[in-house]
Amino acid sequence: MSNYQIEELTNGVYLLRLNDTEVKYFESNWYIPEGITYNAYVIKTDEGAILFDLWKAKYADALMDAIKEITEPSSIRYVVINHAEPDHTGSITRFSEENSEATFVGIPIAESILRAKYNFQNKFRPVRNEEELSLGGAKIRFYYTPWVHWPETMMSYYLNEQILFTCDAFGSYSIQKSIFDENVSDEYMYYAKKYLVTVIGTYRENLIKGIEKIEASKITPKIIAPSHGLIWKNNPTDIIRAYRDWAEGKPSDKTLVVVYASMYGSTADAVENVIRPLRGEYKVKVFSFTDDHRDNIEDILTEVNSAKAVLIASPTYETGAHPSINYLLEILATKIKGVKKPAVILTSYAWGSTADKKNLKLLQDAGFEVIDQATFKEKMTQAETNRVIESLKKALD
Ligand code: FEO
Repeated sequence: MSNYQIEELTNGVYLLRLNDTEVKYFESNWYIPEGITYNAYVIKTDEGAILFDLWKAKYADALMDAIKEITEPSSIRYVVINHAEPDHTGSITRFSEENSEATFVGIPIAESILRAKYNFQNKFRPVRNEEELSLGGAKIRFYYTPWVHWPETMMSYYLNEQILFTCDAFGSYSIQKSIFDENVSDEYMYYAKKYLVTVIGTYRENLIKGIEKIEASKITPKIIAPSHGLIWKNNPTDIIRAYRDWAEGKPSDKTLVVVYASMYGSTADAVENVIRPLRGEYKVKVFSFTDDHRDNIEDILTEVNSAKAVLIASPTYETGAHPSINYLLEILATKIKGVKKPAVILTSYAWGSTADKKNLKLLQDAGFEVIDQATFKEKMTQAETNRVIESLKKALD
């Protein structure tokens, strides 16, 4: 059964929101029990309508049903493609079956992506940065924001009502009861940060450039309308500020994020000896991979993004890091890349190890500043433990 909502945001502007409760792993990777929404938008004018983005292919029939509740599909003159990723374009083939006359609009590279992926014959109008489109008195201006999250991403500004359609930027996981930013919970902001880090984290520099470009353009959006999550009309600058802080990896407080794997207890014991004296003075968040527990990688990435310092500990597995830590480090090296955070690495071994060197390289490649390292046979000495504690205190103060 389809699960969508339609809301008139402002004069003649409609949100078409699909609540995807069925997706478990976004991009077939990120665990999202909280679900996600796909937000498309329609502007109605006397000369026809403009559709901004679509829904995932699975919900193509539902999208057509939703469109029909507000206008005839044949009345849609333009389909603006802010981003070609299939969570926003999957319904194109189905849409074009009902409307082969609408002109698609986007950055030139979007056309080649869409033609390769979908079977549709509609015209495509490539637009330049800051080019405008007019229809029935509605005026839309396009801003190139490449690599937020793909090369063809752009934002569309509806000048009449000062609405900025931002696609992935300023979006979030989760399916909220509300449509707008009323009483936004900490939990929602966590999901938004999780979305940024997991989906756009690699392109955080481009995200910051995109934000700066919008700020420099002197437009003053009254509504920020992303393609996932809440619509920001009460405090639109809040989500822009939060996104910028997260993209910069700004530490929210004196939080130490600890991630360790432990197969038989040596690494867990070493970690516990280090963090025990730190707990009273600092906020310490611990994530682990053990034989009876496994934290979600998405939560680890999200918390590392706001950490003041990071402690990573791993047993030696064969000659490298434990597979779970190896996986984490490889993801950190892309999703958290460029966010300079102090880090300490602990590596245990029974008979030999090169894991410490590999971990050091991965963390340094990711831009972390490795401030201390201890590689130990089964147990850390008290002197090593004390030294690591002091290193972490220095980083956290
Ligand atoms: Fe929501 Fe990059 O797609």
